[in-house]
Amino acid sequence: MARLFFALWPDAPSRPRLAARAAELVRLCGGRAVPEANIHLTLAFLGEVDAARVPLLHAAATQLEVQPFRLELDRLGSFSAARVGWSAPGRMPEALAGLAAGLKAALESRGFTLDDRPFAPHATLARRIERAVVPQAIEPIAWQAEEFALVESRRGTGRYETLGAFGR
Ligand code: 2AM
Repeated sequence: MARLFFALWPDAPSRPRLAARAAELVRLCGGRAVPEANIHLTLAFLGEVDAARVPLLHAAATQLEVQPFRLELDRLGSFSAARVGWSAPGRMPEALAGLAAGLKAALESRGFTLDDRPFAPHATLARRIERAVVPQAIEPIAWQAEEFALVESRRGTGRYETLGAFGR
């Protein structure tokens, strides 16, 4: 079994900017900044998946094309229950909504069960926060999204491993 999810990873120029923002956010809300290499925006969270079914995930993802789009993270906020602070796009690009919905449909048609809550795109920048973040507009950090990744979250290590890149 592996803990898997699909995500957008920021491009190289935006990574250190997001890491700097994570450090600022921690000054507001406490907790721990997400390490630069781990910052991402989840498209679909699968949870534990049996190794035998991983080829089905590749098949579902290969079916999708990304219409390249600019992702602008221009809001800060937090989810108190999950104790995470994040940055998020204030306006959902149509291509992002389409990608998340297309991925969900492709995965469900192959028997995967996904969260039924509406897609709330965000990049978690701080975990185990101590205080809620007042929702606010910030100077945007933007990147051009052109592909998405299938990623494994390695238990205990705090590391992610990319298993495949798709959408081109
Ligand atoms: P988060 O950043 O808001 O915690 C890997 O855990 C990724 O999948 C994270 O981006 C996490 O979002 C996301 N995710 C979505 N639903 C999840 C869940 N039920 N449990 C853990 N992670 C989840």
